Amino acid sequence: MSHAAISDVLAGKHQVDQQITLKGWVRTVRSNPNFAFINLHDGSCFDPIQIVADNKLSNYAEVCKLTTSCSLSVTGKLVESLGKGQSFEIQAESIEIIGLVEDPDTYPMAPKRHSVEYLREHAHLRPRTNMIGAVTRVRNCLAQAIHRYFHENGFQWIATPIITASDCEGAGEMFRVSTLDMVNPPLKEDGKVDFAEDFFGKEAFLTVSGQLNVETYACALSKVYTFGPTFRAENSNTSRHLAEFWMVEPELAFADLADVASCAENMLKYVFKAVLAERMDDLEFFDLRIQKGLIERLKTLSEQEFVRMDYTDAIEILKNCGQKFEFPVEWGIDLSSEHERYLAEKHVGGPVILQNYPKDIKAFYMRLNDDNKTVAAMDVLAPGIGEIIGGSQREDRLDVLDERMIEVGLSPNDYYWYRDLRRYGSVPHGGFGLGFERLVAYVTGMQNVRDVIPFPRTPKSATF
Ligand code: 4AD
Repeated sequence: MSHAAISDVLAGKHQVDQQITLKGWVRTVRSNPNFAFINLHDGSCFDPIQIVADNKLSNYAEVCKLTTSCSLSVTGKLVESLGKGQSFEIQAESIEIIGLVEDPDTYPMAPKRHSVEYLREHAHLRPRTNMIGAVTRVRNCLAQAIHRYFHENGFQWIATPIITASDCEGAGEMFRVSTLDMVNPPLKEDGKVDFAEDFFGKEAFLTVSGQLNVETYACALSKVYTFGPTFRAENSNTSRHLAEFWMVEPELAFADLADVASCAENMLKYVFKAVLAERMDDLEFFDLRIQKGLIERLKTLSEQEFVRMDYTDAIEILKNCGQKFEFPVEWGIDLSSEHERYLAEKHVGGPVILQNYPKDIKAFYMRLNDDNKTVAAMDVLAPGIGEIIGGSQREDRLDVLDERMIEVGLSPNDYYWYRDLRRYGSVPHGGFGLGFERLVAYVTGMQNVRDVIPFPRTPKSATF
């Protein structure tokens, strides 16, 4: 028998006074000898719906004993609710108990506030909480909005590989993929592991970014993007780092740094508007429980122009601002989170697009500026979290690219296919990477990216 979604019922999409069937899980139950009131949720929206059962039900005694997370199928009449704060309720005609909770006293998700740390230890059960349910719907809304933004703006979605041989960021933070026996690996004459014997006939890794691959499609289809999981064996135990995270990476041909920055700004504003339009129920929860003023902030962000600033100017601002930083500021440093947050939160009071970084702290593929010291890179820094986007105009001149590769110790021969893009009809092009979990954390106000991805992967942690 088909059943309705609670979100549709609460949104008034079903006829009042008609019979309806709902399926879901119990959030709470109150009962007296005559009536039981069950809050039932099915994950389709933040609010549960109230089910009113009277003692004429044949299984009324069992219904009164229901506990949190028991699963039910309820059939009854949809009526307008007289109760405060709810629009509709169901007058139950029958309640089928599908699954009971074995031992309610030891059920780990008892209805009380749990710490985020406790919930992480129960990652298989935490989707049942209000908080993770809300995060999940917002995450989905953002992902759908991202695809929609690109679709409406003429981008093609490209599936870039998860297994790769190239270290896009050159930071040596790749997880190896191998079928070799690592206890007794085949060795070369020099004593090193012989990866020619490995599955792919060479060393292979999980990708840190789909960028190099997606560039090949940008140089044929003009506007493309990839959106998938990426992996970094980076030993960063922070609230902003995951070993496995999702990245959105658009790439535009016939584009310079300013075009890339505009694309980032427009996409972010589009998704902020989408979440405000579609998930106000969840945002109200985050505003109340996690971060006061969140909704107002999102509204402002979706309208406010993002400030553009040169790295060199930012260094001057940080040096002269009078604030003591843990990491000293001088031209050439890789900005740390405290610097990024000062710029976004204190100096600008909104998102900043920081541009033209020193080449020595950036990847080999970024276009060298005429000063020979900086590259056409840009990061979007957001208040509260710091960097959420990193991007650049790519080096489209073969000779300059080769020089840069050699400078950073890469062998141009290994990247022959990447170099071919510069040999055959090279065009100015560029793109960026948006850390999807950082975006979800930013939009929900959640303090740690581990709580906005279903099963976080971090150093020393890969249960579930
Ligand atoms: O700045 P990154 O390293 O840039 C790239 O990977 C480029 N190839 C992207 C491109 O131009 N197509 O990473 C991009 C974004 C960062 O701004 C950050 O939001 C996120 O990815 N990120 C992480 N998110 C979670 N955990 C980590 N360990 C992350 N490392 C980067």
